[in-house]
Amino acid sequence: MAEDDQKSKKRAIQEITKKIRLSLLIVAFVIIILFAVVLNHLFGSPSTSLFFLPDISVTMIMGIALILSVIGLGYLVRMSNQVLRIIHDYSSRIEKILSITKDLREEIYGDILLEKIMDYALSITHSEAGSLLLLDGDALTFKVVKGGKAEQLTGTSVEKGKGVTGWVAATGKPARIANVAQDERFNPNIDSMTGFETKSILCVPLITRSTVIGVLELLNRSGGFAYRERDEEIIAYLAEQAAISIAKTKFVEDQKNYEIHLTEMLLEAIDFQIPEKKGHSRRVARYSNIIAKGLHMSEGERKRLYLASLLHDVGFLKINSDENFKKEEYSRHPAVGYEMIKPINFYADIAPFILYHHERYDGYGYPSKLSGEAIPLEARIIAIAEAFDAMISLTSYRVPVNFHEAVDELRRKAGTQFDQELVEIFATNIEPQHIKA
Ligand SMILES: [Fe+2]
Repeated sequence: MAEDDQKSKKRAIQEITKKIRLSLLIVAFVIIILFAVVLNHLFGSPSTSLFFLPDISVTMIMGIALILSVIGLGYLVRMSNQVLRIIHDYSSRIEKILSITKDLREEIYGDILLEKIMDYALSITHSEAGSLLLLDGDALTFKVVKGGKAEQLTGTSVEKGKGVTGWVAATGKPARIANVAQDERFNPNIDSMTGFETKSILCVPLITRSTVIGVLELLNRSGGFAYRERDEEIIAYLAEQAAISIAKTKFVEDQKNYEIHLTEMLLEAIDFQIPEKKGHSRRVARYSNIIAKGLHMSEGERKRLYLASLLHDVGFLKINSDENFKKEEYSRHPAVGYEMIKPINFYADIAPFILYHHERYDGYGYPSKLSGEAIPLEARIIAIAEAFDAMISLTSYRVPVNFHEAVDELRRKAGTQFDQELVEIFATNIEPQHIKA
């Protein structure tokens, strides 16, 4: 777009320069003529070439000067208005584009982003209908379809290379067609399917890193007008920004998908490693969330705590299961888990919660013997949730206590092993049905 933007900037400047030059030329011409008339009046015609100049009185000269000045002023006002309009159009176009670009860049949800791109393209070009298609292999799939009767097309595909959209996807070039009846690339089958009557088309490719990832197609500029070069320029720019944003949201979604499946994989591995504690991680995450809600933590903080709770025992994956229950081996799991999680960027900020989830409020825990609020809040929460689950769950090495006994036990240890305030929040919010879910 930088190139397109430069082009339209250059054109606006050229137009203004042309108008200024023309007005200067007219002013110079009028001054020269008037000057010659004055000379002619005072000294007679100095040259035969000026024989056409009339010998008129000073009053007449003043009169002519006045009339010319008024005409000149009128012309200058008109020209200034035109210049101002060009500048205004240009700057409002830039402003609109900047605000659209910002909006697209900030959008993190892929589906909403595609809808926004379509809406902006329709409103900028005043088109009756439009569609956004993404390329997957050789199939171009209608992701967003708006206007007319074409919405039934959403989710269907057309072949790369066929029709106008297919041609744009295959060549990576834009297509601006004033009358589809005269363009052999146009495929009338879609119109006959939807009942929509396509007259004009503006279709541009969505390209990232030199690869076509889709196309943006607009149909029937309102009023029956054909699409102009400046429509193509602006839509090409929008498409460029759109392609960057689509690639970005796809990357974020892929990363999210990776994070979810990696977490699932680790949870399954933990359950496999310690079958006696099957489901412990998910239950701890649920109990931690009860405290988080009681503390009115933000959604982001709650998500982070939930993830830390799910993975708090991940360190067991690197501890010999035969020796799991020897105290020294067991007590290594927070530090081992921390070392495993810390290098993974999207887990890095939860690593300290894993490291300190066996610290005690009175400073007698491990591995660092932190006490009080020096222990991260999330680690203090996980400690309570984990202890509660350990008490009420049936394992091969411990007989579970009932719900009320477990809550009483937490209260007894509040202020020594656990943060008193957090225990109270948990005790007042946990209900027997929470442990069955
Ligand atoms: Fe633990």
